[in-house]
Amino acid sequence: MLLEKRSIVVTGAGSGIGRAIALAAADRGAHLVLIGRRLAALQETAELLPADTRFHLVAADIASAPGRADIVNACRRHGIDILINNAGVVASGLLSGLKDEDLVHIVMTNVAAPIALTRDLVPLLKLSDRPRIVNIGSVFGDIGHPYFAAYCASKFALRGFSDAMRRELAADSIGVTYAAPRATRTPAADGFHDLVAPFAMKLDDPAVVAARIIKGIEAEASIIYPGGPERLFIWLQRLFPAVIDHVLGEKSRRVQSLLETRRAA
Ligand SMILES: NC(=O)c1ccc[n+]([C@@H]2O[C@H](COP(=O)([O-])OP(=O)(O)OC[C@H]3O[C@@H](n4cnc5c(N)ncnc54)[C@H](OP(=O)(O)O)[C@@H]3O)[C@@H](O)[C@H]2O)c1
Repeated sequence: MLLEKRSIVVTGAGSGIGRAIALAAADRGAHLVLIGRRLAALQETAELLPADTRFHLVAADIASAPGRADIVNACRRHGIDILINNAGVVASGLLSGLKDEDLVHIVMTNVAAPIALTRDLVPLLKLSDRPRIVNIGSVFGDIGHPYFAAYCASKFALRGFSDAMRRELAADSIGVTYAAPRATRTPAADGFHDLVAPFAMKLDDPAVVAARIIKGIEAEASIIYPGGPERLFIWLQRLFPAVIDHVLGEKSRRVQSLLETRRAA
């Protein structure tokens, strides 16, 4: 599928992976509707777009009904061929450190809001001749990772939602793509910087992640996984989950004592 002149709606376009997706789509000649709560962040993204890009900024909270109504109205005016549910929150740390309101925030932003926005936009997507929904999950939507339990649960849910919708919307010829980046150098990654070295995480460049996602959308892929060792881990998780239990359980034990020693020093 060519993205030129396609109307692409990107949530969370004011930073990180969403901004990189917006820039990569603009390079392909797409028309953009960029969503986020902070207008200033969206404007920063807009300043980076090629001069001839047709774009509209919508400052809206996807977790609120009025915010989603604003997005629907913008899509009614400017059209929508592809919805990219990218906005999300990356929460880390031991589960014991998360309060009830943190859990509600994670599940609302990463699961309930993209599901509700999808529901609200499907009638408009049906008007497109090549509609597609793209959900940005995570490798942690396949591999339950210590110190990211609630976040993992939210991305597992988004993956299940994507599979269900791909089958439900087949009758309407709306394609559904689930993309699972690995750890990526974005503002969200600042929140888990203390876990990067202990868990030997590699951080991808957002532009590389976005290029992979755009290529996958053009190929109308159902699932976009990263290459490298993560792909092997995902297969191991499916075939031999006890191996992943052992490796990450051992790592978690070492990280916990390391962090306790650091805290005591
Ligand atoms: N960074 C990673 O390591 C990594 C790895 C795999 C997957 N991911 C996924 O990639 C996606 C993007 O993450 P990122 O790393 O690029 O994080 P980021 O830089 O923090 O970007 C998240 C964006 O979402 C927007 N947002 C958050 N809540 C929103 C809401 N309620 N309504 C509208 N917009 C909202 C934020 O803008 P406002 O604050 O202005 O609303 C922000 O621009 C997320 O779904 C994340 O789970 C990230």
